Amino acid sequence: MSVVITGANRGLGLELVRTYLEAGEIVHAACRRPEEATALVELGPASITALDVADAESIERFGAAVCAASPSIDLLVNNAGLNATAFGADRAHVGPFEIDPEHFMGQVRANAVGPMLVTRALLESLKADAGAMVLNISSQLGAMTVGGAAGNDIGYNASKAALNMVTVRTANLLASDGVSVVAMHPGWLRTDMGGAQAALDPAETADVIRATLSTLGPDASGYFIRWDGTAHDW
Ligand SMILES: NC(=O)c1ccc[n+]([C@@H]2O[C@H](COP(=O)([O-])OP(=O)(O)OC[C@H]3O[C@@H](n4cnc5c(N)ncnc54)[C@H](OP(=O)(O)O)[C@@H]3O)[C@@H](O)[C@H]2O)c1
Repeated sequence: MSVVITGANRGLGLELVRTYLEAGEIVHAACRRPEEATALVELGPASITALDVADAESIERFGAAVCAASPSIDLLVNNAGLNATAFGADRAHVGPFEIDPEHFMGQVRANAVGPMLVTRALLESLKADAGAMVLNISSQLGAMTVGGAAGNDIGYNASKAALNMVTVRTANLLASDGVSVVAMHPGWLRTDMGGAQAALDPAETADVIRATLSTLGPDASGYFIRWDGTAHDW
């Protein structure tokens, strides 16, 4: 099985690389600065390719390199993501009446447009595999039911809601090609983004996500699920 994982140098992405390598799969990892990705290099994926999901040219170069290295892809995990603090924003001032519009749009670019373009760039190799899957790592904060009333960063909530729409639309368009597209809330994780108080260990959760995905077929396409496979509302 050939697996592509973005944002693979730390956090959940790094643990997903580990769990798929431990399962004996071929992993093509992507991160912004491969030369600094020490922990990822130590895991030894089949390839590590530079990818900035906020940069369309970087995505094109990445797609060409990965499709050449892997003519068939079984699973793409669009994991890379950020919030307004990545742009230097003060976490206390990123609500609808305060957020810098550039910080809002920067999140939409990286969290929604980026995964859409990465999927587009890898389409040829995804379509080559009957039963391929694209997993878009979203967030419960992208659900109207949760993010409408929680989370202080409106750009994050809106960008993950946009990613959810990208998920459903691409799922519909790719159904006839046998490519499934699923959005997942990975849980509140103890990563740089989730913080030390978060509920879940990212390594254990990555193992659970791999187990969950192994149970999913084409009928899961276009759905929003949690890391454990239970349905999430929109
Ligand atoms: N942690 C949580 O509680 C939680 C909850 C719900 C959803 N999520 C989602 O889960 C995913 C993983 O989050 P995490 O907790 O592992 O976060 P993290 O520890 O902050 O890691 C984020 C990863 O995304 C990469 N990234 C950010 N911007 C990028 C860009 N423009 N191009 C390429 N890579 C980029 C980072 O690379 P650099 O090292 O180069 O910055 C890093 O590898 C994200 O999509 C996040 O929104 C997390």
